[in-house]
Amino acid sequence: MPETLLEIKGLKTHIHASEGIVKAVDGIDFKVDTGEIVGIIGESGCGKSMTALSILRLLPSQAKIAGEILYQGNDLLKYDPSQMREIRGKGISMIFQDPTTSLNPVFTVGNQICEAITLHQKISQRAAVEKAIEILRLCGLPSPEEQFKRYPHQLSGGMNQRVMIAMALVTHPELLIADEPTTALDVTIQAQILDLIQNLQAKLNMSVLLITHDLSIISTITRRVIIMYAGKIVEYAQTDSLFASPLHPYTKGLINSIPNIESTEKRLNTIPGVVPNPMNLPCGCRFHPRCPEATLRCFDAEPEIRLCGEGHGVRCFGVRQPVSSYD
Ligand SMILES: Nc1ncnc2c1ncn2[C@@H]1O[C@H](COP(=O)(O)OP(=O)(O)OP(=O)(O)O)[C@@H](O)[C@H]1O
Ligand SMILES: [Mg+2]
Repeated sequence: MPETLLEIKGLKTHIHASEGIVKAVDGIDFKVDTGEIVGIIGESGCGKSMTALSILRLLPSQAKIAGEILYQGNDLLKYDPSQMREIRGKGISMIFQDPTTSLNPVFTVGNQICEAITLHQKISQRAAVEKAIEILRLCGLPSPEEQFKRYPHQLSGGMNQRVMIAMALVTHPELLIADEPTTALDVTIQAQILDLIQNLQAKLNMSVLLITHDLSIISTITRRVIIMYAGKIVEYAQTDSLFASPLHPYTKGLINSIPNIESTEKRLNTIPGVVPNPMNLPCGCRFHPRCPEATLRCFDAEPEIRLCGEGHGVRCFGVRQPVSSYD
């Protein structure tokens, strides 16, 4: 039986902005086991980053958070700021979607990695430098001794991405949260970075929560996947069963929009419409205005998540094949 490292229960993160309440994350439940790579996917604005930032409690001051975030059985929402600082970096590390939030332009790369090390470990400066160079090498940075002395603006985007990964991994976290770690990179570098995360995950038996809007990344490295739409989870499953039999119309739409190199079709399939404004969500099922399978019921009531197979849940009235023993 795998051990649960992180369990999220009924998480709600609402931002009380001057114009109204942004329901960025609106009641989600999921777990990540030790040594497991779990993906979260959804279009822009679905609440993926807010979910990640909620786990580390790095939210804007107007955010109100409710529910439970159980890390090794302890609720992080009950932790005080000093306990949270202990967890950040040492227990849980994050690769941020926006590199500018984690790399400081006025310090060298080496300086920043050494600081991440000495913040959590009592070791000499010399040992920290050795450790930093070793992690840069492990992260595939060419001539790490040279890069160590450079500033972020002297490195390419892909190199900075590796530096961020190095910084996130140098403390050997139990859980790595990687928020779009490869978005700004070209496909070959992207493949190398994903390979690197996968290798390090296996080597360190780390758990990874990988956030992306790219289904091909999900299919390459995750074991389980969570589909988010407008602040809610609409489907979750083992990655292979999700691709073999997607059940939610949103998931089917996402899978259909993957470009196929062999297709003779000139046009790409897309999901019509856009993600709703989280300050003004549609009633009933949040996906119904864009759903090709919506019925009258979907306009009025919001479906619950129902289990439809082992480890496969879906939030849709139209899915008719729930196996009763899983209900
Ligand atoms: N500081 C903030 N104040 C108000 N609203 C915010 C703030 N940060 C995020 N939001 C809103 O919360 C919702 C969820 O945002 P989030 O960043 O989690 O999306 P995402 O799924 O990560 O999207 P992307 O794929 O573009 O990164 C969005 O509608 C966004 O506009
Ligand atoms: Mg995001």
